[in-house]
Amino acid sequence: MSIGPGVTCRNSNHTPVMVREVLDALAPIPGKCLADGTVGFGGHSSELLRAAGSEGFLYACDRDSNALSAATERLAPYSGRFEIRLGTFSELAQWVEENRCDGVLLDLGVSSPQLDEPDRGFSFRADGPLDMRMDRRQVLTAADLVNNTDAEELARIFWEYGQERNSRRLARAIERERRVNRFETTLQLAGFVERIVPGKNRKIHAATRMFQALRISVNNELGLLRSGLEAVWQILKPGGRLVVITFHSLEDRIVKDFGRRLASDYFSEGNVDIPELRKPKRPELRWVRRKSIQPSAAEVEANPRARSAQLRVMEKI
Ligand SMILES: C[S@@+](CC[C@H](N)C(=O)[O-])C[C@H]1O[C@@H](n2cnc3c(N)ncnc32)[C@H](O)[C@@H]1O
Repeated sequence: MSIGPGVTCRNSNHTPVMVREVLDALAPIPGKCLADGTVGFGGHSSELLRAAGSEGFLYACDRDSNALSAATERLAPYSGRFEIRLGTFSELAQWVEENRCDGVLLDLGVSSPQLDEPDRGFSFRADGPLDMRMDRRQVLTAADLVNNTDAEELARIFWEYGQERNSRRLARAIERERRVNRFETTLQLAGFVERIVPGKNRKIHAATRMFQALRISVNNELGLLRSGLEAVWQILKPGGRLVVITFHSLEDRIVKDFGRRLASDYFSEGNVDIPELRKPKRPELRWVRRKSIQPSAAEVEANPRARSAQLRVMEKI
């Protein structure tokens, strides 16, 4: 394993997205204390540490132990100026002091090395076990979900997390097939999906949406994002900034709802917002930019993975 410029790990590359925009938003001037809740292969973290100078400090975590070892190696030149732990960003408030950080970064989703390693089972482009766990201490795998979940719940997962239009048809077909043939590998499942929903001239592989849905579900990505935003907000100091990079609308909606709720000067009790029943509260958040920031055309051309990235910046009041 060689971790150097470009963040290389077992022949895989992860090019961090929107680095310039992250640095602009977090302004890691010397001496700042920062946190990276999705350190991955350390691309953003190393840039942040470099910019924060010899007085700067970074807390970092990732739920993937491979990523953690790679990042630890990559950040070695900054030894003594960072603390890194295996775990989710929703656990950050358990080990980082309240109001401690000037800036926090969350760069959501999976990294290229995770996708490129067939053994991890995230991709339908190479054969591997149907796994998809970011944290391999977790028991539940994608194979467990596909083989044991009832068709109605599978259809919900495919629809809610993948917006898969054929969710019911696929779920029912899976339920029938697995009675005779358990799903064990990525290519087995991807090939099956292609047979069930054939279609010429499609722009994306037939299994793209289902694989996204399974990954989100196996890793409870949306639930952890909701609790994680609350946690990272606690470790930010007033005036500190939270930068979140999302890769699909489900994540972005959660970030927007979180920001709107904290920026609001009132709250409503119950599920329905009735203007007469609103109660005033102090806004805790300011949007630094009202709209999300997208990568430049040049970045998308150089790194197609960046094409769906959206960056949002919030400031704690
Ligand atoms: C897009 S990559 C981050 C890449 C990183 N910014 C870099 O420059 O190398 C996303 C990373 O977030 C991790 N991850 C996803 N959800 C997480 C969570 N809830 N807590 C901690 N890490 C998470 C994944 O394991 C993956 O390594």
